[in-house]
This record gives sequence, C-alpha cells and structure tokens, in this order.
Amino acid sequence: MSKILVISGHPNLDESFTNKVILEQLESHIDDVQVRRLDTLYPNYQIDVATEQQALLDADIIVLQFPFFWYSIPALLKKWIDDVFSYNFAYGSKGDKLKGKDFLLSFTIGGPSDSYDPLGYNHFSIEQLIAPLQQTSYLTGMNFRKPLYSHGMVYIPGVYNTQQGVEANAMEHSVELISRINTLAHSTENRVKKLVKEWFAEFDKLPESGEQFLQSLSHDIQWSSPEGDFTGHAGFNNWYQVVRGLFKADCQHIVENVEVIEGDDDIKASLRIRLIADTLDGQSVNMLINEQWSLLEQDGRLLITHYKVTPVQG
Ligand SMILES: Cc1cc2nc3c(=O)[nH]c(=O)nc-3n(C[C@H](O)[C@H](O)[C@H](O)COP(=O)(O)O)c2cc1C
Repeated sequence: MSKILVISGHPNLDESFTNKVILEQLESHIDDVQVRRLDTLYPNYQIDVATEQQALLDADIIVLQFPFFWYSIPALLKKWIDDVFSYNFAYGSKGDKLKGKDFLLSFTIGGPSDSYDPLGYNHFSIEQLIAPLQQTSYLTGMNFRKPLYSHGMVYIPGVYNTQQGVEANAMEHSVELISRINTLAHSTENRVKKLVKEWFAEFDKLPESGEQFLQSLSHDIQWSSPEGDFTGHAGFNNWYQVVRGLFKADCQHIVENVEVIEGDDDIKASLRIRLIADTLDGQSVNMLINEQWSLLEQDGRLLITHYKVTPVQG
C-alpha cells in the first residue's frame, strides 16, 4: 500500500477531544501510516526541517490533521509549513520534491455549518478560508484532494456540546477519513507509483537472476532500450544479462518524476530516473533517463506491456 503521512497540527493533543480520537482511529485502522505529532515533537516550535522533509519524501499521501483556529491552521502547523516547504524543496527551479503526492486536509471546526455562509456570522465559506492551503498545494505540484472537515467539534463544559457528542462526531469523521485514504491509496496512480518504487529498489540490487521482475511483465512485453529491442520474458532475461554484464550491483535509481495517465485501453506512465552506477570496467555513471511504460490491469495486478528507455543526458 501507499505510504501515508499524517501531520498532526494540534498544539496540545492531550487536551483534545476530537483530533485525538481521529488520530487514534487512523493509527489503529490504517497500515503503513506515520503520524507525526508536532506538539510533542516540537514543543518549542523549533522544527527539524531535514527530518520533516525526509518524512515527506517517503510519503505518497500527505494528510494535515488539525483543529480550525481563527479561520486558519494552528500557528505550530503554519510554522511547520513555513520552515519545511523551502526553496528548491517545495518550490523553485529544483523544488519539485512534493510533486505528484496526494494532499488531504482533514480538520475539525467549532462553529456550525450555517455560520460559514454570506448571511451567517462567519460570512465566508470554509472553501474560501482555506484557499491559501489549496494554492500552496498547487504551487508545490501536489494533488489537492477534496478536504474533509466536520462542524460542531468544540466542547466547552456547560457551554458548548457534550464530550460524548463531539467524540461521536470525531468517530464519524474518522470513518470517512479512513475511507478516503483507502480510496487514494488504492488509486491506479498510487499503485503504479508503488510498482515503480519497488521495481527500482530491486534494480538497485541488480540480483543475479532477473526472475523477480518477470511477475510485473506481461508475457509479450515489448522492451526497447539503448541495448536493443527485446520481446517477451525470454527477451527481458537476455536484456537483463546484458545489463548485468555492464554495471556493478548496488547502483542507485532515483525516481525523480512519475506521471500516470489512465487511458481507455491502458495506463501510461512517464518516468524520469537518475541512474548513479559504476560500470564493471571502472567508470562512474550519473545520467538522466526517460522511461515510458504502458501497463494493463490483469486479475487485480498491474502488468507492464511496453517498456521504453531513453537516456536524456550523459
Ligand atoms: C485558539 C482557538 C481558535 C479557534 N478558532 C475557531 C474558528 O476560527 N472557527 C471555528 O469554527 N472554531 C474555532 N475554534 C474551535 C476549534 O476549532 C475546536 O475547539 C477544535 O476543532 C476542537 O478540536 P479538539 O477537540 O481536537 O481540541 C477555535 C478554538 C481555539 C482554541
């Protein structure tokens, strides 16, 4: 499954009635979820940027979970964004590290739904108020997913709501959030990205046998690369042995970009890979490669039917 990162922006979860419940539910119902509690990690607001950026790099789906404070996100979460979404990481000429990741806002709101209306006491809709986060998502190239928010989540004893009531609302919120995360995690785009990740992690090792790769290749795979054109599993095995004769094992394939387009007949993936490797005759290689994959879905599995490798830079 895709890797899910949840950033908890509540400044004091120990005093929360709703965000706490939502996070507990996520942790107990979703595999491969990492919850980062900013309140305990950074009580002094000194964000460890390198650690946070690494957590983002590893994630496919990024969820911001927070209580709505003064029509916006809590200061701690704002500080996290300000520090972590830095130049040449999240924006700028080399700032494409968040590109293509799913971005989902999940938050709890004290005020009732009808107050967020031109004629209500809050005047603006929630969508209008969170527009800066939506634009942040666009600028960084993330896929802005439909935000999930719940109203009436404030509990002040004897004034607003009951603890039981807001906790029940939080449970409902969690059920919907878990369902949305699962849908995203099993989307074709994320499944292709996962396959790409696993494929190159294996390729880095360049194991003696290429057997492992065959399970992701259709029987009539059409393979096109600078080493020649190959067909079928036998063709792939030939190509693989050619490559093993060229490169040392333990190389590095850095997946710089993956774009997935779902067509009527197949799925197309365009990849940009940086290969850092040593050849068996002692040369160091650092090159950019474009790859075009076509895939089919068969019996619930993705199979690559066409694989084209084009080096773009020596
Ligand atoms: C500092 C602060 C600011 C708040 N601002 C808003 C607001 O602008 N609009 C609103 O509807 N609720 C507002 N609330 C209510 C919170 O959204 C609500 O208490 C929170 O979602 C409950 O989450 P929790 O149970 O996890 O603490 C505010 C609460 C606090 C403490």
